[in-house]
Amino acid sequence: MLAIIGGTGLTQLANLEITHRQVIRTPYGEPSGALTFGRIKNEEVIFLARHGYGHTIAPHEVNYRANMWALHSRGVKDVVSVASVGGIHPDLTPGRIVVPDQIIDYTWGRKSTYREGNETPVTHLDFTHPYCEDMRQLCMRAAEAAGESYVAGGVYACTQGPRLETKAEIDRLERDGATMVGMTGMPEAILAKELGLCYAHLGVVANYAAGRGASAQGIRLTDVESVLKGAMQRVRTILEHLVSL
Ligand code: HPA
Repeated sequence: MLAIIGGTGLTQLANLEITHRQVIRTPYGEPSGALTFGRIKNEEVIFLARHGYGHTIAPHEVNYRANMWALHSRGVKDVVSVASVGGIHPDLTPGRIVVPDQIIDYTWGRKSTYREGNETPVTHLDFTHPYCEDMRQLCMRAAEAAGESYVAGGVYACTQGPRLETKAEIDRLERDGATMVGMTGMPEAILAKELGLCYAHLGVVANYAAGRGASAQGIRLTDVESVLKGAMQRVRTILEHLVSL
């Protein structure tokens, strides 16, 4: 079973025929909302809006553990996580689709493991390749099938938010090797790995990162909204192809 996690700009899937919704309780508290069960092109999927269906949960307040646990508890094996990002690399211009292959985590204070507590032996999970390569390939093939160009690979820097970054912070992320910046990729990716889920990001560039391109003087949220509106329509088409591959 495939799950789709929708980020900013994707709180609903218009092409999802909804069958039912289910509120799941987890040992880690409440997920961002009820899971939405339905079909896209006759394939069963589960949808969850990461920031809540009314987009009210900030990146640092998302209960990532509950979200991933809830999906896992319903038999989900594969997860495509749609996430908007700021483009740091010059190729990552607003509206572009990107499938990153690496992560740098700059977040702090988020509950980022299921493996804690006195009863749990200490383990050090391998995270060399943070994304599931099968799901990455599926996202890229789906983009091709939908006739959408995309950037294959890139380094996703996950910042704490909810504020955007300063220019100097983006300069630092670039020196670190990051090509895009978002606020929700972690700890989602590591929790998926702990649960044995095949997880990848389908990134959508919402804006030039701070101090880059048209964001040289600042990031205008009205521009971000209009970019995301257009791009998420294309993401929905990619997802239609993805479910039937
Ligand atoms: N910074 C961090 N997260 C983001 C951005 C950004 O510029 N754009 C979309 N998500």
